[in-house]
Amino acid sequence: MSAPFDWSGVSIALIGAGNMGLAMLEGWAAQGLAGDQVVVAEPNPSQRLRDLCAVRGFRLAEGDSADEPRQAVVLAVKPQLLEAGAASAAPFVSAGSMVVSILAGKRIADIAARLPAAKAVVRAMPNTPAAIGRGMTGAFANEATSEAQRVLAHVLLSAVGQVEWVESEALIDAVTAVSGSGPAYVFYLVECLAAAGVEAGLPADLAARLARATVEGAGELLHQQQDTAAETLRQRVTSPGGTTAAALDVLMASDGLAQLLARAVAAAKSRAGELSG
Ligand SMILES: NC(=O)c1ccc[n+]([C@@H]2O[C@H](COP(=O)([O-])OP(=O)(O)OC[C@H]3O[C@@H](n4cnc5c(N)ncnc54)[C@H](OP(=O)(O)O)[C@@H]3O)[C@@H](O)[C@H]2O)c1
Repeated sequence: MSAPFDWSGVSIALIGAGNMGLAMLEGWAAQGLAGDQVVVAEPNPSQRLRDLCAVRGFRLAEGDSADEPRQAVVLAVKPQLLEAGAASAAPFVSAGSMVVSILAGKRIADIAARLPAAKAVVRAMPNTPAAIGRGMTGAFANEATSEAQRVLAHVLLSAVGQVEWVESEALIDAVTAVSGSGPAYVFYLVECLAAAGVEAGLPADLAARLARATVEGAGELLHQQQDTAAETLRQRVTSPGGTTAAALDVLMASDGLAQLLARAVAAAKSRAGELSG
């Protein structure tokens, strides 16, 4: 989205301002959102949340008469607290509201059943780098969501990183398996690379630093060279017959990393399907 989004007239209720909700709120604040455009329902506001609300003029909801329907109601409570979260959200929901849920494993039908007044519902799956504004969120909008609402959802979710849309809700399980759980695969790669370094003779602490910095640097290179495919970046550091090629021969063998990751992603996808019923 190239032109800056026009926030005027946008009204939002944020339900739950823990790790993810607060990161989103900070992102909206950084984009210029202020004042009573945002109301936050949060039973135990952290000092960081109180400070942000004080500085930006956001209102902390206290179930008072000032509660009124909002254009967007963002649900960011733990999935097991959907029932209570929906009760907190209800005063802000009318037929014209869009509910954006980031609750892992909760389907559009689960949300719609608890907030029947809402027609437009968006289900989104962020990941942990959202905490530093570098998340990847996969999102699906139900049929009742208008194009304008979808744009608003995109902007709201973009506050913590990139957003990609899928055309069927079932694909959210695959998104969960790739980008939702993906950061853990990369952290495990760091652990495995460090352990392999120890096997190769390095002291453990040095191997850990080398592995970590390598993944950090490679990730940053990917980030900074958005137009270059990962495959191209890999080929650039692989001279024929060299050391990297020797390692890649092992990783790219017929029972190598591709097959292992395919099995890991399939297992995560299958589990995501079980958890969302
Ligand atoms: N963190 C991630 O990387 C990640 C990734 C993908 C999806 N998600 C989804 O994001 C959601 C939030 O995760 P999180 O890590 O931010 O959880 P969290 O830190 O526990 O934040 C949830 C917040 O909601 C508050 N809350 C509880 N009941 C409420 C109610 N009835 N009304 C309003 N607020 C209420 C909680 O307060 P108390 O602490 O007082 O209960 C807490 O501050 C989850 O559904 C999760 O599946 C998170």
